[in-house]
Amino acid sequence: MGRFYITTPIYYVNDEPHLGHAYTTIMADVFARYHRVAGDDVLFLTGTDEHGQKVAQAAKERGVHPQDHCDEMVERFRRLWATLNISYDDFIRTTESRHRRVVQQILQRLYEAGEIYPDDYEGWYCVPDERFWTEKDLLDGKCPECGREVTRISEKNYFFRMGKYREWLTDHIRDDSRFVLPPARRNEMLGFLRRPLNDLCISRPKARLAWGIPLPFDESYVCYVWFDALINYITAAGYLQDADAFGRWWPASCHLIGKDILTTHCIYWPTMLKAMGVETPDSVMAHGWWLVDDEKMSKSLGNAIRPLDLADKYGVDAFRYFLVREMVLGMDSSFGETGFVHRYNSELANDLGNLLNRTVVMAKRYLGGRVPAADTNHPDLAELKVQARRTLDGVTDALDKMNPAGILDAIWDLVRQANRFAEAQAPWNLARDPDGKDTLKATIYGLLETMRYLAVLLFPVLPEKAEEIWAQIGADGEVKTRTMRDLHSWGGLRAGADVNAGSPIFPRIEPVEKDLSEKADMADGKEDLVPFKEFQKLEFRVARVESADRVPGADRLLTLQVSLGDEQRQIVAGVAKQYQPESLVGRQIVVVANLEPATIRGVASEGMLLAASADGRVALLQPDADVPDGAEVG
Ligand code: MSP
Repeated sequence: MGRFYITTPIYYVNDEPHLGHAYTTIMADVFARYHRVAGDDVLFLTGTDEHGQKVAQAAKERGVHPQDHCDEMVERFRRLWATLNISYDDFIRTTESRHRRVVQQILQRLYEAGEIYPDDYEGWYCVPDERFWTEKDLLDGKCPECGREVTRISEKNYFFRMGKYREWLTDHIRDDSRFVLPPARRNEMLGFLRRPLNDLCISRPKARLAWGIPLPFDESYVCYVWFDALINYITAAGYLQDADAFGRWWPASCHLIGKDILTTHCIYWPTMLKAMGVETPDSVMAHGWWLVDDEKMSKSLGNAIRPLDLADKYGVDAFRYFLVREMVLGMDSSFGETGFVHRYNSELANDLGNLLNRTVVMAKRYLGGRVPAADTNHPDLAELKVQARRTLDGVTDALDKMNPAGILDAIWDLVRQANRFAEAQAPWNLARDPDGKDTLKATIYGLLETMRYLAVLLFPVLPEKAEEIWAQIGADGEVKTRTMRDLHSWGGLRAGADVNAGSPIFPRIEPVEKDLSEKADMADGKEDLVPFKEFQKLEFRVARVESADRVPGADRLLTLQVSLGDEQRQIVAGVAKQYQPESLVGRQIVVVANLEPATIRGVASEGMLLAASADGRVALLQPDADVPDGAEVG
């Protein structure tokens, strides 16, 4: 049995998870699951990066301690990964004590070994942003982030002797062709190393930034966030805590990352490991960017795709499938819903969904809904069996090359072959032929058995649908416990087992989609029931009323200015008859924070206040203990 250790980047805890984060994590999940199916021992790690300026600032703006801020924010990632069926084995947060301890020990050792040394650092400082910039970072001599004036300052800092490893690293990247993948990125890194390599400043004075891991040899500094973050990969493997575990898991098989963080992973990280005397990971694989309308996704452009929107609309498995299928690893891809629907209909609904459907329906119609006792060596099955074997080899080979689209290609060869086989055998004719009984049984057995192969092989990409396939074809147990070993011999389905024709696993999508709310209304007789997934979309938050005024000419309405901690909102509320405006100021209330803005009597309203009402009386909902403004309710 092999061993496979795969990691994702640890995501900035402040960020709202979007399609890009979901992509890396789903890809890592798919690799991890394939290795489990291949029978390997797997460690799959993800987590969050929680130190640094941005977190400190966001927490300050909300008036909460940075740790509390992180504890709250991390849940967004955890929730999303649960919904997307991410099967991580460990979730690391850089604020955990297991990590802080390891980082401090590493710092101390490197310091004692002379790998870290103090020196004066000269640079340009942007006071409002509290950030240091080098000469070449500046834009027209000003701060590249906010465009304001910068001041030249010089301060003592600590440096890691990265520069001295330049030659070693160049050789390493050149000699080990799997270390940086794909090859274009390897060339990029070799190009980078042709220029001089500076030592790395790894400290920040506490006076400027206190939210970090303190340097053990100088308490007036904290560790630079990247130096701390990269170490997560060895903390989770047991470095300096559990020698057996570390011996088993390290070096990591693959750090899967986006191309934006190539330098930190291929230059900083291996030199840090070298200085520690620790082996480098087997490979760093950098994928490209998901673009939206050919632009980079970003908060400021307002074009970030929220993964849950799509997963809700089309199903988690279809979303996972699309991401794995669509992007050629290493290249950029543009995300578009039209392309998504097209692939869904042709590959999932037609090729795969129909194959399952016709198989189970025929088993029901012609064979009483049972797996037939058939001759599994019937000559008509020969080609299908060869293809099943080929597909298995193709999947193994593509997995070894870390080529997820290649895995799906190999699987689709079997899907298409099985569809052709069904057409050619024409079971509907065999059923009418008095001499066709044995061939009919063998044909349907062959199709059901093919579906068994497909369920095991597709489980890593379609974990929910593979279980459905498994149940429909009457296979024993659960697909999630199966491995490729179960596919080494043809004929694994038990004769006599019940075939349970269910509804289509991928119902066709009409290219023009009705909007979700209309769909919910159309659901027969269920107008009043809201699916949990819909309910989950609502964002209830605690807000503090900062001011309240009557709306002129509307005797029931008040305009409230409220604070959600990190933002201000204006909300129109129909409580003027029950509450004097001034009695509300300073109170905490509960609001629906993600309603579409509306204009009420000419006043913009960006949310809705929650209140109980009975017999004309109204009572505002409010938390029964003081909580930070903006706190989530749910
Ligand atoms: N915290 C650092 C990583 C530290 S790892 C020791 C970080 N975090 S991040 O939240 O910004 O995540 C960056 C990663 O998110 C990228 O490397 C990539 O995996 C993923 N993506 C973010 N936007 C993306 C796209 N538009 N497209 C594809 N993936 C991208 O950097």
